[in-house]
Amino acid sequence: GKSGYEHYMLKEIHEQPRALRQCLRGRVNEMEGRVSLDVDFDPERVQFVACGTSYHAALCGAHLLQRSGIPAQAFLASEYATSPPPIGEDLVVGVTQSGETADTLSALREARRRGARTLAVTNVVGSTVSRECDQTLYVRAGPEIGVAATKTFAAQVVALTMLALTTDGEQRDAIAALRDLPGNVQAVLDSSTAREVAEEYVDSEAFFFIGRGLCYPVALEGALKFKEITYEHAEGFAAGELKHGPLALVTEDTPVFAVVTGDGELARKTIGNVKEVEARDAPVIAVTDGQSDVERYADHVLRIPTSEPRTAAVLANVQLQLVAYHTAAMLGRSIDKPRNLAKSVTVE
Ligand code: F6R
Repeated sequence: GKSGYEHYMLKEIHEQPRALRQCLRGRVNEMEGRVSLDVDFDPERVQFVACGTSYHAALCGAHLLQRSGIPAQAFLASEYATSPPPIGEDLVVGVTQSGETADTLSALREARRRGARTLAVTNVVGSTVSRECDQTLYVRAGPEIGVAATKTFAAQVVALTMLALTTDGEQRDAIAALRDLPGNVQAVLDSSTAREVAEEYVDSEAFFFIGRGLCYPVALEGALKFKEITYEHAEGFAAGELKHGPLALVTEDTPVFAVVTGDGELARKTIGNVKEVEARDAPVIAVTDGQSDVERYADHVLRIPTSEPRTAAVLANVQLQLVAYHTAAMLGRSIDKPRNLAKSVTVE
């Protein structure tokens, strides 16, 4: 059942600390500063294929592998047939929560025809993807009933973070951040003011989400979740792309959620974009770990604990899940079964 929560989605958002503990269990060795997964992972290059929310996790995965020095690229599964074919020792990684998504299964079949080895990253033991791929990495999030993917996304990103770490030497900072992540997600759940933000902006004309680097897939995912369950117009943009077009949509009636973590170059540049939207009188909601001064330019702040950049994305995403959820609840939407959508999409 829903254990007292009004919707499965809210229950599953709150199950994220547990889902992440299960995902991490037995896989990170803090003493040795190492990650060990029961898959062979030593590719020359990686291509990810996935759809929807899982594609956003794949974008994070590609970013994290690049950081670890492995060339990696994420493709929408439905567009994979027209992509450059894998070469040599390439590994094609299918990221699919259900393990049954037709587009992803057919992209993986195409990859095998092209001679690639395949790895499934999935939540469902015995799913089609796990039977068809050479290897499987389970994300262990537990069953997800709400159509909108929440805890499975968090677990996918953590599984892909671990995968990237297996290729690096000692990774004590990242491992400590992974160890602290479930507790930090709990801290976000306990302190979030997302409901107040939802209340203030529920009647807006459209909702925009911006970020750079790992915060870019978070912006895309924030917008996808928002449009799926609120039925309102929501778009995610790479923060730097705003001025190349989307800025024309920005008005005082379009709140902009800016995902800004750390205090480096990316944060500084996103803050520049925040000033651009502010100059158009758009309300700004900063989702931030408080390391930069983005809060000075924001109408609202959704705080996340300070952590490693690699885990901050998961924390920021929890805030955006809650904003989407509370907005949809205020609008009286069918949150666990949004119109026109199915949990598992078995047609191409
Ligand atoms: C979004 C959502 C969909 C799925 C997509 C892929 O909340 O649930 O976008 O992420 O249909 O599904 P899987 O991961 O099962 O391949």
